[in-house]
Amino acid sequence: MRTHKIAVIPADGIGKEVIAAGLKAMEALQARCGDFAMTFEHFPWGSDYYRAHGRMMDADGLERLKKFDAIYFGAVGDPVIPDSITLWGLRLPICQGFDQYANVRPTRVLPGLTSPLRHVNGPELDWVIVRENSEGEYAGHGGRAHRGFPEEVGTETAVFTRTGVTRIMRFAHKLAASRPRKLLTIVTKSNAQRHGMVMWDEIAAEVGREFPDVTVDKMLVDAMTQRMVLNPASLDTIVATNLHADILSDLAAALAGSLGVGPTGNIDPEGRFPSMFEPIHGSAFDITGKGIANPVATFWTGAMMLDHLGEHAAAKRLMTAVELITRDPANHTPDLGGNASTAKVTDAVCEAIRSSNE
Ligand SMILES: NC(=O)c1ccc[n+]([C@@H]2O[C@H](COP(=O)([O-])OP(=O)(O)OC[C@H]3O[C@@H](n4cnc5c(N)ncnc54)[C@H](O)[C@@H]3O)[C@@H](O)[C@H]2O)c1
Repeated sequence: MRTHKIAVIPADGIGKEVIAAGLKAMEALQARCGDFAMTFEHFPWGSDYYRAHGRMMDADGLERLKKFDAIYFGAVGDPVIPDSITLWGLRLPICQGFDQYANVRPTRVLPGLTSPLRHVNGPELDWVIVRENSEGEYAGHGGRAHRGFPEEVGTETAVFTRTGVTRIMRFAHKLAASRPRKLLTIVTKSNAQRHGMVMWDEIAAEVGREFPDVTVDKMLVDAMTQRMVLNPASLDTIVATNLHADILSDLAAALAGSLGVGPTGNIDPEGRFPSMFEPIHGSAFDITGKGIANPVATFWTGAMMLDHLGEHAAAKRLMTAVELITRDPANHTPDLGGNASTAKVTDAVCEAIRSSNE
């Protein structure tokens, strides 16, 4: 029996609710497939842990996570504790400490979901956004000086390295080459940012020469937003910096129906460390505890995790179950215009996993 060790970090807000739902789906899958097992170890890290212990995760947290095959993560963020503490105390140390430099964010309009875009109800919107996940605008480079004085200064320096840009461009080209359309859009802002972003463009062109079968085009990030809205069918695989892709992928999820359906994997493509799978949304203070968080993103990211672990049949069964249940508006949570609860959607997915599901 193949066994996979999974670290579970639900963390904050609706992260706890959607990860509980995701774990139920994982249990149903193991029982249905019968040819693999997953062991789950739960870590109580997050904002409540910070209130009790003064830190978001244990000092030896990364050391303890290293032995796992993957991490199933909820969301981090608290109404009281500053985001700079929560994000930099848990999620970013894991992404950066494990060099999960490729953040992969697929977007599709799942069956039965309504895109806010006219004429889009299926294959016109089928994208994968590759987000550079280790440096760029989120490198943490910068500082504050003269605090509280009129001359106070704060800097946030975007850092682009040849190593970092080359490896994400190579990853994005490979991914584009593996998809039927072999089409890659490089997002940039090299008109206004003439150092790091110009290097980004140059390296994209260099790496592109290694992949003659991939068609490449280049978009300024501002114009990219209008292309995503007005001509979604012209896009397939997209690569962008840490900040640009962070923003564009929320737009992508919304165009596919809701932030509650957007999954992601923080991948270490070299497999040196565990990769981490999470919904793209945050802890959603406004709906925490109401039992109405949409668990679809967490199911989908669970399918990405299974694919990453080599459990392709189980991943397919899970995604087929998700696509079966989204067809029925009775399974839509309020973010999709319905009134289903997290529990109802979870039960429906588990039932679809157990059924023949072909
Ligand atoms: N990866 C992460 O852990 C992550 C990502 C984004 C934001 N955050 C943090 O989360 C906190 C809240 O941030 P925010 O409000 O900007 O973003 P958010 O993603 O938490 O919520 C934005 C809106 O989308 C809705 N929404 C999000 N996920 C949903 C779901 N599964 N089902 C139904 N509705 C859903 C929320 O109700 C809210 O109205 C902040 O502290 C922020 O820093 C964390």
